[in-house]
Amino acid sequence: MRKKITIAGAGRVGSTAVQLCAYKELGDIVLFNRTAETARGIALDLSESAPILGFDVKITGTNDFEETKNSDVIVITAGSQRKEGMSREELLCRNADIVESIAGKLAAQSPDAVLIVVTNPLDVMVHVGCKYSGFKKSKVIGMAGILDTSRFRSFISGELNVSVEDVSAIVLGGHSDVMVPLPEHSTVNGIPITELLSKEKIKQIIERTKKGGAEIVALMKDSSAFYAPGTGITQIVEAVVKDKKRVLPCAAYLNGQFGLKGIFMGVPAKIGAHGVEEILEFELNNEEKKAFYESAESVRKLVEKLNVECPVKI
Ligand code: LAC
Repeated sequence: MRKKITIAGAGRVGSTAVQLCAYKELGDIVLFNRTAETARGIALDLSESAPILGFDVKITGTNDFEETKNSDVIVITAGSQRKEGMSREELLCRNADIVESIAGKLAAQSPDAVLIVVTNPLDVMVHVGCKYSGFKKSKVIGMAGILDTSRFRSFISGELNVSVEDVSAIVLGGHSDVMVPLPEHSTVNGIPITELLSKEKIKQIIERTKKGGAEIVALMKDSSAFYAPGTGITQIVEAVVKDKKRVLPCAAYLNGQFGLKGIFMGVPAKIGAHGVEEILEFELNNEEKKAFYESAESVRKLVEKLNVECPVKI
């Protein structure tokens, strides 16, 4: 039987994810949106592209929670997006409200699903999604590390003029300016980039990666990134529906791993049918540790801010 995927939020991120999940025939897709017509329009348009590309999945648009029933995966992309000059954090209360308003209702229709949260500010919204879905923590995953890592890989590949396929990298921590790219664990086919690029160049690439989201908002003005985020979502959906056991940088719940407890943060996570099936721990050097804990601190501070300033608490 085909898998069923619900994607909530028919903005550019959500619709890019629908398109890619459909191309890859990952399952039938329900695009859930507050305004049903928008979702229906996108679903219809994409369905009309199916004969050209030859993908056999059903795509529907709705604002009726019942139609999302028995999904294997739920993706929440719904929320206000970043505009020029805005930080991800400014979206805090507004988006917490949106995630809270749908997480429980979507979860009630699909109690066995894996939940992927994409709404910003990402790490805090994963906490919100987890609390209000009532799902086990291992069934809740935040998509950001794949995006940040992909940006890092893309810049490394551009700088060295080598195929993106040969660049493997990792970015840990929160999805904010205090994310933690790890150059010593980033390689070109096994060769650490620290052997191939100067310290200065690596520093520049890291800075660009950290500000990758803002760079795109500054160019597009009325939109934040959507192709790379939509592609990142698709990679997690695929890992879940095919039980691939991919090791991907995702916001996962830490229960002692890396010395942290009670927090969702970007770490290497093994993703399969059950969601986060394992967190792969490894030794960080002192500098990396410092950056990682600073990143955790900023996530904790934002969770606190939410609890103090926003109507939706966790
Ligand atoms: C980005 C925003 C959307 O990183 O978080 O592109």
